[in-house]
Amino acid sequence: MKMNRRGFLAAAGLGALPGLAGGADLAKMIVRSPNPQDLEMSPDGFQAWITPLDRFFVRCHTYVPERADLATWKLKLDGVVNQPLALSMDDLKKLPRVELVSVAECAGNGRSFYQPHVAGTQWALGSVGNGRWTGVRFRDVLAKAGLKDSAKHILLDGTDVPLGTMPKFQRTITVEKALDPDTLLAYQMNGEELPQEHGFPLRVIAPGWASDSWVKWLTHAEVLDHEFEGFWMKTAYRHPKGPVQPGATVDPSEMIPVTDLNVKSVIATPAAGSIKSGRVRISGAAWSNGSPVTRVDVSANGGETWKAARLAKDRSRYAWRLWSYDWTASDGKYTLMARATNSAGQSQPLEQAWNPSGYLWNAVERVEVEVSGKEIISLYTDEPAAAQQQPQGYQAACLTCHDEGMMRQQHLTPAQWDREVNKMTGWGAKIKPEDREAILKYLSDSFSQ
Ligand code: HEC
Repeated sequence: MKMNRRGFLAAAGLGALPGLAGGADLAKMIVRSPNPQDLEMSPDGFQAWITPLDRFFVRCHTYVPERADLATWKLKLDGVVNQPLALSMDDLKKLPRVELVSVAECAGNGRSFYQPHVAGTQWALGSVGNGRWTGVRFRDVLAKAGLKDSAKHILLDGTDVPLGTMPKFQRTITVEKALDPDTLLAYQMNGEELPQEHGFPLRVIAPGWASDSWVKWLTHAEVLDHEFEGFWMKTAYRHPKGPVQPGATVDPSEMIPVTDLNVKSVIATPAAGSIKSGRVRISGAAWSNGSPVTRVDVSANGGETWKAARLAKDRSRYAWRLWSYDWTASDGKYTLMARATNSAGQSQPLEQAWNPSGYLWNAVERVEVEVSGKEIISLYTDEPAAAQQQPQGYQAACLTCHDEGMMRQQHLTPAQWDREVNKMTGWGAKIKPEDREAILKYLSDSFSQ
């Protein structure tokens, strides 16, 4: 029997740990943080059109909440509506059932590639997946309540509980996006009940938009006639309107909410390292914001010349498209690249414009390979653990809500660490004034740029 961590816990009679429950197979995932759960898909996941549940990335700002009891669960809908409602799952399932394949991509996917580094979960390529979502149109639900003319935004709230004094995770989407016939409230994923870590029993599907708007564990939608002022709309998930200097501090008035995804492609095969000469299949997946990908071009010589890749037949407006190109590789060193273009003529940049929170990375990926007559197996080493001794008060202040993996993946300057410590203190980290300096020094020395 194949044993993963969850299987092991179950077999040992321990059940699942809080926050570790769910469909992801930890053995197949890159664990960025075990709890709050941030799990990344590895690049070979870009070979399947539909991402299986056990490989689908997971992004949580808090611990996964307790499973809802459908006998009592309700979706509340109120605010500037004619008729406030509380709908049961049975009520929702009476509405027309709609199915849609769409990419879900975290706004921070690719954050780890930004230079200078920025704070946040250090995703590489795989905080994205292509899912089959089933549910009801959000607009059918809104029609039952009747929007008033003044309706502008919809505040979405789930049952996730903030840690310490962090602000509750609440997001808004515009009424226009909510009324889009492709915006769903989904109760199924890949034909199965929505897994707990993906938002059981109901989550928002806002295709074409980054998945910070795809609120999970949804229980309340409040229609607003004004802009919402909460942290996750006014401070987090914003990026500059125009180009800024790398590393710059950007005035909040110059920042706008993250919505549309960027056109992007990822190379699944071959992986960087050594490969055998002969016919090599360069393959991957490409997606966009609702203007479908119309072509993917591949270069095996660092961008000097490009060849059109073959697009696979499975397609859907918001889904990713698999692509491949057969390359005859002779001995030498090569830089492989893939660049997607969408139906609106948008294409990937060779160099990424920097932004302060590291959102929406879509620069053309470069995979370095060395081709030779023989196959060589490359070995990966994990990042080394911090060599420094942990300072006084650090455990109690910093390692009560999450583990040190959260710090280890960051590569921040002392000034950025100072801001992180302030943020965490604001969220309830209890740091004694006399310990602060040593903790800051430790963080800056151990987990620096
Ligand atoms: C009250 C609980 C709590 C304590 C105590 C705490 N953190 Fe966090 N921290 C969080 C949560 C929750 C997240 C995840 C936030 C998210 O995913 O948006 C987080 C995320 C982070 C991150 C990732 C970057 C970011 O801002 O999301 C860093 C770095 C970090 N914490 C450092 C620290 C340090 C250093 C301390 C000690 C001074 C600390 N934390 C203490 C709750 C806490």
